[in-house]
Amino acid sequence: MTIEGMETKIIDGKRIAAEVREEVRLRVEKLRAKGVEPGLCVILVGDDPASQVYVRNKDRAATKAGFQVETVRLPADVGQEELEQVIFERNANPSVHGILVQLPLPPGLDPEPLLRALDPRKDVDGLGPANVAALWRGQDGMQPCTPAGCIELLERSGVTIEGRRAVIVGRSPLVGKPLAALLLNRNATVTICHSRTQDLARVTREADILVAAVGRAEMVRGSWIKPGACVLDVGINRGEDGRLRGDVAFAEAREIASKITPVPGGVGPMTIAMLLSNTARAAANLGGLDPDSLD
Ligand code: GUN
Repeated sequence: MTIEGMETKIIDGKRIAAEVREEVRLRVEKLRAKGVEPGLCVILVGDDPASQVYVRNKDRAATKAGFQVETVRLPADVGQEELEQVIFERNANPSVHGILVQLPLPPGLDPEPLLRALDPRKDVDGLGPANVAALWRGQDGMQPCTPAGCIELLERSGVTIEGRRAVIVGRSPLVGKPLAALLLNRNATVTICHSRTQDLARVTREADILVAAVGRAEMVRGSWIKPGACVLDVGINRGEDGRLRGDVAFAEAREIASKITPVPGGVGPMTIAMLLSNTARAAANLGGLDPDSLD
C-alpha cells in the first residue's frame, strides 16, 4: 500500500509481451493460410555482447511466432557500401517483409545512410526518415518498437493517456523522441527533459505519466514522482554486481506511483513483441492484405 487506499500495481511487461506475441502468432497463422509466409531479416554488425543477446532473442522469438528468420552477422570491419548492399538485396527480396539493423553500429559505420536505404514498408524498427515523418504527422507507418511497447503497456494497463501530462526524461531517437510523438498523437500534453533541463525534479513531479529513458541507474528518485503517477522505466543498466537496474529507484518509486514497470520484466520484453507485431503488419501490407483483417 502507498498513499491511503491506493495500491501500487506492478505492470507485468513479461505477461503483456507474451500476450502480444501470442496474438502475433495467430496473425502469422492467418497470413500463412492466405499464402503469405512472413519473413524477417536481422542484421548484426560486430560483436557487441549486448547486441548479440538482443539479436539472438529477436531471432528466437520471431521463429517461435512462426516467422522465417534470417540473421545476417557481419564483421565490425565490413564496409559501409557492403552493408548497404545487404539492405538493397533484402529490399528486393519478396520473401523478406521486415528488415532491421541492430544498433549501435561499430565505430566508423554511419547508421543514417542505412536507415535511408531501407524500404520504408520493411523498416520494422520505424527508424528510417519516411516512418519518422509519418509518426510526427500522425500518419500510419511503422512505429519504433520500444516506444510502441510503452504505449501498449499503458493501454493494456488501463492508463488514460488523453489529456494527461506526460514527461519523458531522455531525448534519444530510439525512445524519447518517438515516444513523445506517440503520446502526442494520443492527445497527451508532452514534455521532453534531457541533460540540460533545469530543475528536472520539478518538471517530473508534474507528470501523470513519467517515462525514464536516460540510461543512468536509479536516477529518478521517489521524490521526483507525483503521488499516483504511472511510471515507465525504459532503462537497462548493468551494475558492477551484474544486476540489472532501471533508470528509476524502484523501491522508492513504488511507494509513490500508482503503477510502475519493473526492470527487468517491464518495458524490455515489449520491444521484441512489438517488433513481431510490426513485422506481421508489414507482411500483410506487402502481401496486399489489410493487417486489421487478421484479428
Ligand atoms: N538497440 C537497442 N534497441 C534497439 C532497437 O529497438 N532496435 C535496434 N535496431 N537497435 C536497438
